[in-house]
Amino acid sequence: MHRNFAMEFVRVTEMAALAAARHMGRGDEKAADQAAVDAMRRMLNSVDFNGTVVIGEGERDEAPMLYIGEKVGTGSGPGLDLALDPLEGTTICARGGNNSIAVIAIAEEGNFLHAPDTYMEKIAVGSDARGAIDLDRSPTENLREIAKAKKKELQDLTVIILDRPRHADLISEVRRAGCRIWLIGDGDVSAAIATCKPESGVDVLMGTGGAPEGVIAAAALRCVGGDFQGRLKPRNNDEIERARRMGIQDIHRVYKINELAKGNVMFCATGVTQGAFLDGVRFLGGGAITHSVVMRSESGTSRYIEAEHHFDRKPRFEY
Ligand code: FBP
Repeated sequence: MHRNFAMEFVRVTEMAALAAARHMGRGDEKAADQAAVDAMRRMLNSVDFNGTVVIGEGERDEAPMLYIGEKVGTGSGPGLDLALDPLEGTTICARGGNNSIAVIAIAEEGNFLHAPDTYMEKIAVGSDARGAIDLDRSPTENLREIAKAKKKELQDLTVIILDRPRHADLISEVRRAGCRIWLIGDGDVSAAIATCKPESGVDVLMGTGGAPEGVIAAAALRCVGGDFQGRLKPRNNDEIERARRMGIQDIHRVYKINELAKGNVMFCATGVTQGAFLDGVRFLGGGAITHSVVMRSESGTSRYIEAEHHFDRKPRFEY
């Protein structure tokens, strides 16, 4: 995968973020998501590649755009698979909260797990605890191993968890283990990435969130040397059937990071609202500033890009 694609795809997340950011705090999740989807699709279709959406807005019958299996790009150029979320954290954006992002992960064909739109139990850590996690162990055992790897006391570990009733037992166990907890309303892709940023103060992500977001987070952590494991958590037989249709036979299998995102992967994200590792879109008179990151697993390089956009010179795009 040519590294120049990184710049092409960051332009795509920039446009999705600009479009979604107009909806910040306006209370309309659907409108914010639709704006991001429209902008991302328009931009993707201007890039010279033969793309297939593997993780997208949902299955064809439920998502009119960027559905799983949709072909994107001009069709000329290499065949690449995409795992994308035009607006990760729709509720965050609609409420004007922190950490909503527009995101795309890119891999060569066949290298992302085709995850159904169900839940996934997840654990994510930064590079200093790589190899110390195992979803088959209890949360307490994982926390002990992570603390050992990071040479930290258990009571100094910070665990980030989505604030959901389903996590009541997990939260009690983490408290009993003596660790600190950071409860977040939404956005576990940003939370997973935060485990790789010492300045975030986050050591580990635990709990159950979206399976598509799990694949995207695994791609990001591949680029920065972190570690991630996921196990599907379907809510009913229909979701189990969907997983089977997508080629998943063993529903209880624990997927390691390289099984979720294999080979060379790239990851691009642009901040929509203000966040821990990306600034949100700031509008100026006649333009805006975006803040993005581009990461590649091959080199391990992360590039932060601040872009100044002038709307009058981009007549092709609607914001
Ligand atoms: P959306 O952007 O699709 O709204 O996802 C936000 C999110 O918080 C994800 O980061 C997370 O994986 C998932 O929702 C958790 O799902 P739920 O809100 O159903 O608990």
